[in-house]
Amino acid sequence: MSATTAPLGLGLVGCGGFGTYVLDAVAGLPGLRPVAVADPDPVRAKALGERHGVPALGSLEELLERPDVAAVAIATPPAAHAATATAALRAGRHVFCEKPLATTARDARAVAEEAERAGRALVVDHVLRYNPLLRAVERLTARGLLAPPRRFLFENDASDQDLGPGHWFWDRAHSGGIFVEHGVHFFDAARALLGTEPLSVRATAVRRPGGPVDMVSADVLHPGGVLASHLHSFTHAHRCERQLMRLDHGFAETRIEGWIPVRAEISAWTDEDGARDWEQLAAQSAALLHVDGFRPHGGERVTVTVARDAGSPAPARGRGEVRVVPHHVRAVLDLGGEARKPHVYSESVRAAFADLVRAAREGSAPVAGARSGLSAVTVAEAATRAADTGTEQAVPAPHFQESS
Ligand SMILES: NC(=O)c1ccc[n+]([C@@H]2O[C@H](COP(=O)([O-])OP(=O)(O)OC[C@H]3O[C@@H](n4cnc5c(N)ncnc54)[C@H](O)[C@@H]3O)[C@@H](O)[C@H]2O)c1
Repeated sequence: MSATTAPLGLGLVGCGGFGTYVLDAVAGLPGLRPVAVADPDPVRAKALGERHGVPALGSLEELLERPDVAAVAIATPPAAHAATATAALRAGRHVFCEKPLATTARDARAVAEEAERAGRALVVDHVLRYNPLLRAVERLTARGLLAPPRRFLFENDASDQDLGPGHWFWDRAHSGGIFVEHGVHFFDAARALLGTEPLSVRATAVRRPGGPVDMVSADVLHPGGVLASHLHSFTHAHRCERQLMRLDHGFAETRIEGWIPVRAEISAWTDEDGARDWEQLAAQSAALLHVDGFRPHGGERVTVTVARDAGSPAPARGRGEVRVVPHHVRAVLDLGGEARKPHVYSESVRAAFADLVRAAREGSAPVAGARSGLSAVTVAEAATRAADTGTEQAVPAPHFQESS
């Protein structure tokens, strides 16, 4: 096997819950081969090393001494991400970093700049960016079937069932706080779906009686009068978790269910050409839902129903836009619902690693790279400051573009 086609040797640092998940998800991915794991907790390192038949080490430094480690996956708690990523990049390794890229925008920028200097690939595990439903909405927007959203809303009734009072999640020094630890997924998703960088943010943080902040909300203003609202509430039992992402496209609406999106429903008013385009979609479901590295399970479905002349042929007007749209479209993009969440989640992680392999091989910019990681942490930090101070905060422009 030549050096260019030999699989990238992967060393994983942080053998906790998600490190284990990540390594299971990438098993057998072409172009990648786990070669070692590391964790200061020897019990965890040993368990994960044995599970994948690779050596268990005690530290990042030991991992970086191994010449077979070409890429480092970072699954430590957030506060260690920036220093770990920087050390790996300086040692000439490609990096797959769990979100958030860092707990401060300053550190996120330093990592992004280090990746540029080192000329190494950097992927941030913003799993939503590798989800077939979000990818489909981006494609439908690019094709003009959906107008760019003028409003993004994400309501997240998340679970705190496994987040006991001593968990690092609640400690801002370790996690960065809810906007940074978790919110980054959705700040980045909004940026991708809206196609713009945020301008400013207002936010609120709510503390549970006698306990930590467990609910936060942010209103993020994007250019063009586009508003993105994000609410995260870590207050539910697993079985009571529910999430809804809602996109208002003006004459259409998209509703996406699940924090790992598993089903989307689109309701749209359109004209005759639009109706014909929508009707052809069902036959294009594989291309519509395609994400490199994501293996479909075969039960994915795209169903489109068009009700012709469901509305008046008279011009309809909203926000000053006038259109003749008598036909109503209902499209359902179904990845198998909640039952398929484990599949969709692990395949999204696998697709993110496939992106790392491609970026490392071809020198191309990944879907969720340094720019995504930096932008998301920048708005998360501004949202945290807005909630702390009770004042609107400008979101500094990232002024960073990874080369491809
Ligand atoms: N992308 C996603 O969907 C997703 C989902 C869950 C968690 N995560 C992220 O994964 C990361 C890990 O979360 P987790 O739930 O597995 O945490 P965890 O507490 O279960 O595991 C963290 C592990 O890192 C080790 N560790 C701590 N500091 C270290 C250091 N400096 N160097 C090396 N190892 C160190 C700990 O010993 C522990 O084994 C977090 O950043 C979290 O935000 C991402």
